[in-house]
Amino acid sequence: MNKISNFATAFKKTSKYIKKHQTTYSLNLVLVIVSVILNLVQPLIWANTIVSIFKSEFIEVYKYCAFMVGFYFLQALVNYVQSLLASHLSEEITFDLKSEMYHKLMGLPMKAFDDTPAGELISRLQYDPEAVADIVINKFTLLLVNILKFLTVIVIMFYLHIELTLVTLTLVPFSIGLFFFSGKLMRKQMMAISVLKDKFFSHIQESFTGIKTIKGLNIQEVRKLEFNNILNILKKKSITTRNYSALSQNISQFFMFCTQVAIILAGSLFVLKYKTLNIAFFLAFNNYSSQFTSSVMEIMGLNSSLQQMAVSIQRILHLQENFDLKEETSGDIHKILTGRVKFINVSFAYDIRTPVFKNINVEIYPNSMNVIIGPSGGGKTTFLNLLLRFYQPSSGLIEIDDINIDDLSVLTIGEGISIVAQDSFFFNDTILNNLLLVNADASLEDVYMICAQAHIHDFIITLPEGYSTVIGDGGSNLSGGQRQRLAVARALLKKSKILLFDEPTSSLDRESQQFINEIMLNLSREHTVIVITHNYSNLHNADHIFYINNGEIIESKEDEINLVNARYV
Ligand SMILES: Nc1ncnc2c1ncn2[C@@H]1O[C@H](COP(=O)(O)OP(=O)(O)O)[C@@H](O)[C@H]1O
Ligand SMILES: [Mg+2]
Repeated sequence: MNKISNFATAFKKTSKYIKKHQTTYSLNLVLVIVSVILNLVQPLIWANTIVSIFKSEFIEVYKYCAFMVGFYFLQALVNYVQSLLASHLSEEITFDLKSEMYHKLMGLPMKAFDDTPAGELISRLQYDPEAVADIVINKFTLLLVNILKFLTVIVIMFYLHIELTLVTLTLVPFSIGLFFFSGKLMRKQMMAISVLKDKFFSHIQESFTGIKTIKGLNIQEVRKLEFNNILNILKKKSITTRNYSALSQNISQFFMFCTQVAIILAGSLFVLKYKTLNIAFFLAFNNYSSQFTSSVMEIMGLNSSLQQMAVSIQRILHLQENFDLKEETSGDIHKILTGRVKFINVSFAYDIRTPVFKNINVEIYPNSMNVIIGPSGGGKTTFLNLLLRFYQPSSGLIEIDDINIDDLSVLTIGEGISIVAQDSFFFNDTILNNLLLVNADASLEDVYMICAQAHIHDFIITLPEGYSTVIGDGGSNLSGGQRQRLAVARALLKKSKILLFDEPTSSLDRESQQFINEIMLNLSREHTVIVITHNYSNLHNADHIFYINNGEIIESKEDEINLVNARYV
């Protein structure tokens, strides 16, 4: 993205959010302008007061002083209301941006999450909307004030003395050049800093979720070293950026002082030699020219904020642009009724260099028990991922109830299919809430009954807090087998037509394995059940057995499988 389109997109993007709060924003701007005018009028009133003092008009002086008290009160009031409005606006816009961004992130295809570490997403969600909101409201207001001041003062200066104004304006090209040059340098640094912040968050996030592995492998020192490295580069980049900012501000301040010297030199010529300027007006001019230079300085100071905004907007947009959102959000609402599944000439690859499926054809019948077996890494989980529409096939089509799944809404698929994944995830909430999350209408009796079916109820009621026990981040307070059974209960509670089980009995003892097998078999009377398993005792229950290997899927008979299974048990 080049500089212009960068800013153009930034403005377009943010104007949408401002529009929503148009009245407040306009009122905010009006108050800012009033405040600027009050500031410009102030010296005039003081000047008149001083004139009265010189004329010894005491009553007038008292009147002016009383007037000034009222004037300052008004100014304080205006500034107070304006700052209230500004904080209100920036909080509102932060809210809008964050909420919309979260919403969009949740809708991104699975590929986006494969490619982007969670910490990076957290970092973007946290920092970028805040930066944009602050800049749009507070920094833009400041920019506007200074541009207004800059323009009015130029007009007044031209009115006072044209040649002297031209001398003052020599400052402008220098400042513009410096503005763009240092802006470019700063933006590069800021982009690098944002990327480093993403790494920083990813590192922290990984360290805490992977803490057991880190301690288990005793790699704390390596992790610490890596963390310090990130911090160190972050520190250096931040110092460099501040350095650029300070350098450009001080260089422009130096230009400003030089301009003032030039004004005094030229002014003294006009006053003393050419006599085209009266000394009183020269003093007034000097006052305005210093206001002019200070507004130029302020605008220069806002450069880093503008660059930050360009960077943040680019980062907010980037995630959405890089992934096609359409595929996830389209589709009709439809209730999955029969649960018939068809894969027609489906090919798929996570990475084009290593295809997972080559032209597979499968039909899975309603109310049947289907077992998928095959070597590890063969594509069994991927088969379920495609059915859940987590990924798009590179060719071919997948149908549920004879409808292309691309034409089904996310909601339809989400409601119609339940999965007990290989690694079940739970939220840091009570057992009951984790279960009700998938079916808020379920009664307590339903929950107890289903947990009993999944052979987890007896365990839950032995816990001191029973169903109100908080199960810890990701369900870490439970054993592998308990987690697995709870995941089965959760899937059953959802009452979907199609039920997927990805190695559901892998971490269970023999007795629980049998229970789960029975449950799955019972379910297959009214549901389409697809089970990935390494447990060959499942085979004789199956209506259909599929063998996935080498990019192919073949329907097999139990006895054929038993011949080859020794290799994979
Ligand atoms: N998210 C992913 N991104 C890239 N490659 C993946 C991803 N998930 C799985 N794979 C690869 O796809 C192949 C099939 O994986 P998977 O379906 O998980 O096998 P399994 O049969 O053991 O369940 C493997 O080679 C694996 O490395
Ligand atoms: Mg798998």
